[in-house]
Amino acid sequence: MAGVKLFIDGRAVEVPSGATLLEAVRAAGLALPALCHDDRLSTVASCRTCLVDVNGRGLAAACSTPAEDGLRIDVEASREVRRAALQAIVAGLPPRALDIPADRSELVRQCAEYGVAAPSGVVLPPERGVDHSHPYVKLDRDLCIACGRCVRACAEIQGTFALTLVGRGAGTVVAPGTGGPWAESDCVSCGACVDTCPTGALSEPGLLNLLPLERQTLTTCGYCGVGCSLEVSTRGNTIMTVKPAGDGSVNRGHACVKGRFAHGFLGSADRLTTPLIRRNGTLTPATWTEAVGFVAARLGSIRDGQPDGFALISSARATNEENYLAQKFARTVMGTNNVDNCSRLCHAPSAAGLAATFGLGGGTNPFDDLERCDAVLLVGANPTAAHPVVGSRIFQRVMDGARLVVVDPRRTSLARYADVHLRPRPGTNVAVFNGLAHVLVREGLVDTAFLDLHTTGYEELFGLLEDYPPERVAAISGVPADDLVQAALLYGQALAPAIFYGLGVTEHLHGTDGVRTLSNLALLRGAVGPGAGGGVNPLRGQNNVQGASDMGALPDLLPGYQKVLDPAARARCAGTWRVDVPPLPGLRIPQMFDAARAGSLQALWVIGEDVLTTDPDSTAVRAALEACPLVICNDLFLSATAAAADVVFPVAAWLEKDGTFVNFDRRFQRVRQAVEPPAGVRTDFAVLHAVAGRMGADLGCATPAEAMAECAAVAPLFGGISHPRLDREGPLHWPCGSADSAGTPRLYQERFATPDGLAHLAARNYLPPGEQCDAEFPFLLITGRRGEHYNSGSMTRRTGNLRLSADETVDIEPGDAAALGLNDGDPVRLGSRHGTAVLQARITDEVEPGQVFAGFHFPGASVNSLTSRVEDEVTGCPEYKLTAVRLSRS
Ligand code: FES
Repeated sequence: MAGVKLFIDGRAVEVPSGATLLEAVRAAGLALPALCHDDRLSTVASCRTCLVDVNGRGLAAACSTPAEDGLRIDVEASREVRRAALQAIVAGLPPRALDIPADRSELVRQCAEYGVAAPSGVVLPPERGVDHSHPYVKLDRDLCIACGRCVRACAEIQGTFALTLVGRGAGTVVAPGTGGPWAESDCVSCGACVDTCPTGALSEPGLLNLLPLERQTLTTCGYCGVGCSLEVSTRGNTIMTVKPAGDGSVNRGHACVKGRFAHGFLGSADRLTTPLIRRNGTLTPATWTEAVGFVAARLGSIRDGQPDGFALISSARATNEENYLAQKFARTVMGTNNVDNCSRLCHAPSAAGLAATFGLGGGTNPFDDLERCDAVLLVGANPTAAHPVVGSRIFQRVMDGARLVVVDPRRTSLARYADVHLRPRPGTNVAVFNGLAHVLVREGLVDTAFLDLHTTGYEELFGLLEDYPPERVAAISGVPADDLVQAALLYGQALAPAIFYGLGVTEHLHGTDGVRTLSNLALLRGAVGPGAGGGVNPLRGQNNVQGASDMGALPDLLPGYQKVLDPAARARCAGTWRVDVPPLPGLRIPQMFDAARAGSLQALWVIGEDVLTTDPDSTAVRAALEACPLVICNDLFLSATAAAADVVFPVAAWLEKDGTFVNFDRRFQRVRQAVEPPAGVRTDFAVLHAVAGRMGADLGCATPAEAMAECAAVAPLFGGISHPRLDREGPLHWPCGSADSAGTPRLYQERFATPDGLAHLAARNYLPPGEQCDAEFPFLLITGRRGEHYNSGSMTRRTGNLRLSADETVDIEPGDAAALGLNDGDPVRLGSRHGTAVLQARITDEVEPGQVFAGFHFPGASVNSLTSRVEDEVTGCPEYKLTAVRLSRS
């Protein structure tokens, strides 16, 4: 783009065409106040604090005036005008507006810079009061300067449109668009309004009156798999505020209610701070020496007699280094491959399906490729709730002109902005994806040159697709044939389409087939790897579920996805570990429970998972835990699983430890300790070391940095990853095979990673789901996430988020509710073939007639007592997205 040359206080500067005078002034190394401006937002130019003199002839708002060749901007000469603008703003505020610490008020900083003080003797308008109804967003109306930044941030960054300006003239003030208190508004508590507010009119609890913050720690969020960079400010050992990091981060200065605000659980009164051992049927406090000794003695005798009598469920919440150590413990100390992680319950079909199709088990493209995509196919995912920052960025992209196809049974937030919304009956994905592929072929929207060069299997696929005309797919899925065609045309005609998908694709009896047939679309279109487009990208659930699998916390795969069955891979690990690796794959999580119920599992160690709450058919899970002679649990709180364990280790949370996570687009990022854990609490890393040591084994890797270094040595995929490098250079995408590799944000640029270098199209027929409705169980239950809570809710239920969402609810379509005589908030009894649960009715047209939706964040609600043990035939991932239930008023 051609540049523009102009002069700022006599100094020549060049800025890109389209830049504003404000950007030109900044390019000259100068600053201007800009109280109504935020670089991320549209411009309104209402505050006049950025006025500058142009060519000696007049004043212009720098934030909104385009830079032009030859302009002469006199910043210094117009200083007094800006000072007057600031003074006029301050004159309408109470004097306390300037008492706020400067690091928390842009207005205070600018007034200090310009020598503006609170005026005396001015008659202030009547006080307008505060709205402190919300747990995280506090409004002081008297500090509002009506700049509108909060309103635009809510709309343009978050995509929620919850705020507006009300009143006239000097009385103009921000307010929820719904009227009434903030807590009852559409606000989703992302904090974007607080972060952009220049005066402190919007703030978070206690922040404006604090003593100076002492320390900032840059770390990675420990909630969902987006991997937002967060800057944690502390005073002493207390977290005062958590702000989203800006440039270079996946979140680009945005966050959600969980990462931004939900850290109060760290200081919860019921935090575990001492180990527990079950004695005479009761969990009783023990010393670390006792607990470690007890576990080591029991595991030692299992190792010496029946190593495969031990199994370990590692944690998608723990760091990579802890997961690496956990799988090393299972394999080298206990001598078994019985290690798995909760990707088994969510994205195991992604790993299997993507690896079978493309060669590697991760998403194909960096999330930033969204910016170059002109169409998004969003399938089986509600990122607005489950991955809020991703949801916001997709929303922003759509507002910028990208087309959007949503495939989801529910009317999700993003579905409201979709060009086409397909609502297939749960369990019919494969038919829908084959139907879309059929239309691509029929309409000549297939990139045949790409297929010839880079794929195999298209002849077989083309033959199968003949059986999936839109009319037949409509009969199977309920998706109107015309909508299916429209969606296929939209994806097929885009220049650079991207696919994002979630658990609505994977958590099915045929979940791996779903991933493969969805991936077919990108291959047919040539929109992945060497072709243009944004590829195929799973939205991973937990913060480090990608990393837990990357580290080899899987029964059939060693670190870096090396097969247990591969002698060379076992030898590579054994060479470093100095212990032979068991040659056969171990048990998956469901098989661990089967083995426990069958009496062949002697000990199960569960690290950081509440399997009694989150795993399907919880009645059967409880039976497994009861049957297993020794259950060990690491957790922050006495979760349902911890309460059923024989030994509980109290462990540190993500804000209290050091290491790395891998996010959903394969980005290794540093996790840094912001605060010390409570006295008596240890990291999972330390607990594994302690038990191994007591068993006479040395796991090596004394520190997380050493564990990462060792992992890099045994896993070629991560050979160039290290803590020092991440500290120095920032995030790195795997594969990153050596210290001179810059990482690989975009996979398969030259060839796919399969043995033949070709992507493998999959010809898979639609097969019916495992669960079916009948007269006794006429409704389909879909389970998923609510925006305010996270997984089993053990963290978010111990924060202000509980005020935002206090109970588990079940979404029921209005017509169904009327037929059942249900009103909003009524208790509803749900019964399935596996169990029962009582939830509050939430009546909404977000669900289709005959379908209901529930979260699973409240253990007491027992939602997973309803779900079945039907699982993906390839990977064992449960069919969470489809359970036949009946409903009745409780
Ligand atoms: Fe330019 Fe407000 S920042 S007018």
